[in-house]
Amino acid sequence: MKLMISIVLLFLLPSYASQTSVVYIMSSPEPLNGVIQTETEKTVSLVCFLNGTHEDKELVWLRNGAMIKLIDGNKENNSSICINPVIRKDEGATFTCQLKSNSSHSASVTLSVTYHADLSGSEEVTVEEEESLEMQCDMRANPLATSVTWELNGTMVDLSTWGFIITNNGINTKLYVKKVDRSLHEGNYTCTVTSPSYGPLNKTFQVTVTDKTIKFPLMPTIAGVVVVALTALLAIISRRRVIARCFKSNK
Ligand SMILES: *[C@@H]1O[C@H](CO)[C@@H](O)[C@H](O)[C@H]1NC(C)=O
Ligand SMILES: *[C@@H]1O[C@H](CO)[C@@H](O)[C@H](O)[C@H]1NC(C)=O
Ligand SMILES: *[C@@H]1O[C@H](CO)[C@@H](O)[C@H](O)[C@H]1NC(C)=O
Ligand SMILES: *[C@@H]1O[C@H](CO)[C@@H](O)[C@H](O)[C@H]1NC(C)=O
Ligand SMILES: *[C@@H]1O[C@H](CO)[C@@H](O)[C@H](O)[C@H]1NC(C)=O
Ligand SMILES: *[C@@H]1O[C@H](CO)[C@@H](O)[C@H](O)[C@H]1NC(C)=O
Ligand SMILES: *[C@@H]1O[C@H](CO)[C@@H](O)[C@H](O)[C@H]1NC(C)=O
Repeated sequence: MKLMISIVLLFLLPSYASQTSVVYIMSSPEPLNGVIQTETEKTVSLVCFLNGTHEDKELVWLRNGAMIKLIDGNKENNSSICINPVIRKDEGATFTCQLKSNSSHSASVTLSVTYHADLSGSEEVTVEEEESLEMQCDMRANPLATSVTWELNGTMVDLSTWGFIITNNGINTKLYVKKVDRSLHEGNYTCTVTSPSYGPLNKTFQVTVTDKTIKFPLMPTIAGVVVVALTALLAIISRRRVIARCFKSNK
């Protein structure tokens, strides 16, 4: 019974909310069921109108509940805001216009933002023999990416050989090699992310493996010198303390 009531309320609430609105929003592009479909780099403009005469005419805009700063002259009777350019973070953002004096008079629209992974061009990577190699590509897309691939010299990277590790965390796809071997790992790597709305996009990494250089163990030497210097300094300080105390007690 309780469940049934909640279900009925669920259906009633939206229409109830729209009926009571004294303010309303017009937008470009137009919304469908309160949702504006757009993509990154595009522009969305929203205008809020006060319907009828009200004592208080001041309107406020909120983005996900946070107040948007409006200039004077863009508050009374009607108020417009412009989202330009639309960014990824606007995905799912709700813009609400309400009467400043009474927040129960409000109207809202939500943005649905489609975007593709941020991938293009190529990058040169130099890595020393036997060092680790890590490359990463953005894979965020809306709708979600349907495929993420890595190629080396035009052939799909074979995960079962040559120590390749690929990890995808929804934000980035990473290709990792713990210990680089020039004969196996040098070449052109291309990551390709395919999303339903934008098709495949890629980025290339031109990896050059250089000879191993012999590294002089600089850090331990410095640490050793510091320890010796500190010990000497402490010895001098404690010595002075003893001398100072002697003089004090002698007084
Ligand atoms: C404005 O209010 C009148 C009645 O108060 C109503 O008939 C009309 O549909 C409203 N217009 C909008 C756009 O909400
Ligand atoms: C807002 O509308 C009211 C009534 O329609 C009008 O008297 C008032 O001057 C308007 N305010 C602005 C800033 O236009
Ligand atoms: C919005 O309000 C301003 C002044 O407050 C007025 O000049 C303008 O005509 C109004 N725009 C619309 C579309 O009502
Ligand atoms: C705000 O508007 C609602 C609906 O018209 C009304 O019931 C309520 O009393 C108003 N609140 C204030 C503080 O004016
Ligand atoms: C990729 O191509 C380059 C240039 O032809 C070649 O030097 C390298 O060995 C190739 N890498 C692999 C893993 O086949
Ligand atoms: C790697 O990319 C560079 C630049 O696009 C190109 O000149 C080179 O021929 C490519 N090498 C291979 C093996 O595909
Ligand atoms: C990468 O994308 C470009 C177009 O942006 C395309 O010409 C090229 O063939 C793609 N490279 C690979 C390896 O898929």
